[in-house]
Amino acid sequence: MSTAEQATPTALDLSWVRSQFPSLAQTVNGQPAVFLDGPGGTQVPQRVIDAISSYLSRDNANTGGAYQTSRDTDRMIAEARAAMADFLNCDSDEIVFGPNMTTLTYAMSRAIGRELGPGDEIVVTLLDHDANFAPWKALEEGGVTIRAACFNPADCTLDMDDLASKITSRTRVVAAGYASNAVGSINHVAEIVRLAQQVGALSYIDAVHYAPHGPIDVRALDCDFLACSTYKFFGPHMGVLYGKRQHLQLLHPYKVRPLTDNVPNRWEWGTLTHECIAGIKACVDYWRELGRRMHAEHATRRQAILAAHAAIHQHERGLMERLIAGLLAIPGLTFYGITDPKKFDQRCPTVVVRIEGHTPLALATKLGDRGFFTWYGNYYALNLTEQLDVERTGGFLRIGLVHYNTMEEVERLLAALREIVG
Ligand SMILES: Cc1ncc(COP(=O)(O)O)c(C=O)c1O
Repeated sequence: MSTAEQATPTALDLSWVRSQFPSLAQTVNGQPAVFLDGPGGTQVPQRVIDAISSYLSRDNANTGGAYQTSRDTDRMIAEARAAMADFLNCDSDEIVFGPNMTTLTYAMSRAIGRELGPGDEIVVTLLDHDANFAPWKALEEGGVTIRAACFNPADCTLDMDDLASKITSRTRVVAAGYASNAVGSINHVAEIVRLAQQVGALSYIDAVHYAPHGPIDVRALDCDFLACSTYKFFGPHMGVLYGKRQHLQLLHPYKVRPLTDNVPNRWEWGTLTHECIAGIKACVDYWRELGRRMHAEHATRRQAILAAHAAIHQHERGLMERLIAGLLAIPGLTFYGITDPKKFDQRCPTVVVRIEGHTPLALATKLGDRGFFTWYGNYYALNLTEQLDVERTGGFLRIGLVHYNTMEEVERLLAALREIVG
C-alpha cells in the first residue's frame, strides 16, 4: 500500500456491521450462533443476497446477446470486474472470474505448464493450502521439478531462508500463500515476489485466506498472479484471479474455439455464475460503504476499501489478543502458530489448537452443539498437518475470527471451552 493510500484506523461500527448480515441472528439449541468458521467461508450481507436474487428475477440471461437483459448482464459483469479491480488495485481486464480459486489455479498452472518441461523448477511451500500446491505438483507429469519450502515448526512461519535457497536460475514459478488458512501466519509476500523476480520466475500468490483481513495491492506487490475467493470476504461462492495483462495475453489457455481471444475472457470458459458475479459487485459495495462510514464519506472506492480494512484490522487485533491469551490459559491446550503479541502483525486472527484428551472433531461437535461454529481436521493444508504429525489424529480445532465477531463471542467461546475441558 502506498503512503498516500494508507487510511487512518477508526473504530468499527460493529452494530451497523452485524445488522448487515441476516444469518448472524440465528440460534442453535437456544444459544446465539457464533460464526467462527470464516476461514471456511464467511456470511454475506443482505445486499449480496438481494443482488443475487434481483439478478435472477430480472436480468437472468447469457452474455453477448442483442437484447436488453443480455446487455444488462454484460454491463453488470463489467461493473463487477471494475469493483474487484479496485479491491485488488489493478485494471478491470486483469480480473478473471471463475468457479473458485482451486479451479482457476489448475487452469493457470496447466497453461503455464505447457511452456515448461524437464530442467524447469517450481517452488511451492509446505505452509500452503493444497490448492496452491497440487496444481503445481501435477506438472511433474511433464518433467517439471517441484521444490517445497519448509516452515519453522516452532511458530509455523514460512522459513524464508529455505525458500530463498530453493529459488535458483532454473525456477520458473514461485507459488506461495499470502496467509495460512490453518495457523494464520502472514508471509512476506513482497519479499517472495522479489526473490522470484530476481531469477525471472513468475510469482503466484494465494490470497484466499488473507483477503478478509488485510488490504491487497497487486500493483505495489508487483506479483504476476494473485488468486482469491469472494466467499471468504463476504461475497458469493466464486473465485477471482488477478493476472498481469501481458501474461493473460501471452500464455495459452486450453479453451473452446468460439470463445474470444480477448483478455480476460479467454480465461473464462463456459457460462459463468452470473448471479454470483452480481453478488460480487454488491460485496465490494459493502466494503465501500463500511469504509465510507469510517469518516471517509468522499473517498474513492479504493480508498474506502482501505479505510474499511484499517478499521477491521484494529477490531480483529483486539479480538485476537484476547482469544490467544485466553486459549493459552486453558490446561492441556497446545497452540500452533505465533503467540508473541509483538509478532501479531505477522498473523491473521485464525488459530488452531489441540486439547489433550479431546479429538478436534469431538471439540468442534461439542462447541457446535453450543452454537459455536468452528472447524476440525486439515482444511486442505495437508502438508502442514502431515509435517506437524497431527494428520493421523484428526488435525486441529480451528477458530477463525472475522470483523463481524465480537469480544462477547470470544469470551463466551473461551468459557465454553473451559467448561468442555473440565
Ligand atoms: C488459503 C486457501 N487457499 C485456497 C483455498 C481454496 O479456495 P476455493 O474453495 O475457492 O477453491 C482455500 C479454501 O479454503 C484457502 O483457505
